[in-house]
Amino acid sequence: MQTVDTLVQMCGLPRLEARMLIEHVLRQPRAWLLAHGTDALAPEPVTTVLSLAASRRQGVPMAYLVGHREFMGHRFTVSPDVLIPRPETELLVDVALTAVATRSAPAMLDLGTGSGAVAISLALARPDARVVATDLSVAALTVAQGNAQALGARVQWWHGSWYEALPSEGRFDLIASNPPYIHMDDAHLQQGDLRFEPASALTDGADGLTALRQIIAGACAHLNTGGQLWLEHGYDQAEPVRQMLVQAGFAVVRTEVDLAGLPRVTGGSL
Ligand SMILES: C[S@@+](CC[C@H](N)C(=O)[O-])C[C@H]1O[C@@H](n2cnc3c(N)ncnc32)[C@H](O)[C@@H]1O
Repeated sequence: MQTVDTLVQMCGLPRLEARMLIEHVLRQPRAWLLAHGTDALAPEPVTTVLSLAASRRQGVPMAYLVGHREFMGHRFTVSPDVLIPRPETELLVDVALTAVATRSAPAMLDLGTGSGAVAISLALARPDARVVATDLSVAALTVAQGNAQALGARVQWWHGSWYEALPSEGRFDLIASNPPYIHMDDAHLQQGDLRFEPASALTDGADGLTALRQIIAGACAHLNTGGQLWLEHGYDQAEPVRQMLVQAGFAVVRTEVDLAGLPRVTGGSL
């Protein structure tokens, strides 16, 4: 007979991770687990927890095992069809919200929405906005739509490659994107959570700048006068991204650093 406490030991994981898996399977909060550490558990949930723990020991990300991740204070459902939203992407949302702070009913576009984390966070923070989001992955859009419904966000979704996904009419006050920007030869792709995330969400299969280049090249035709484009990128890509923005005609081009002090988000206005 297993109890919560013995099961934590059997998982062979850091205690916090073991507890997260048990909470998930038993559908009980942390406080319940702590108060019922010596209660006998039924065999079925024990088997399920041990199976998840085995996957976790193989490296499967916790977010995929429990099926969700917090972003901007909201709980997003995630599956292996989508990138797990990262804390550093909250900077992109913050910058985007600041960019439209003085505009009423702004039109905002999120290119490559994945779980919908950016678009939905924008829509929830600015209920007066028209928020549009695109992705090349139908499976990702299905996850994003489910998240919008669960969180009560109003977002218009379009399937296709970058701007090609959009209907022809309409321009935006803000375009935000966290595109795949990892160089195809970057060793990080073979490490940690990245091994389990969709390759098309991580890398362009080239130098890491292809998607950034395409998004910058098409931005002018989709922004209103004074509109802004903000892009997340690798810590070592700020300089080329700034150059591309200036060449495309953007002004007031600048880079923001994330909580770790790394240059992560670059943008400018038309
Ligand atoms: C780094 S993920 C970002 C996901 C989400 N915006 C986030 O920040 O968590 C990049 C996303 O771009 C999408 N993507 C890749 N190539 C694309 C393309 N050509 N057109 C549109 N979306 C694309 C991927 O499917 C993926 O969902």
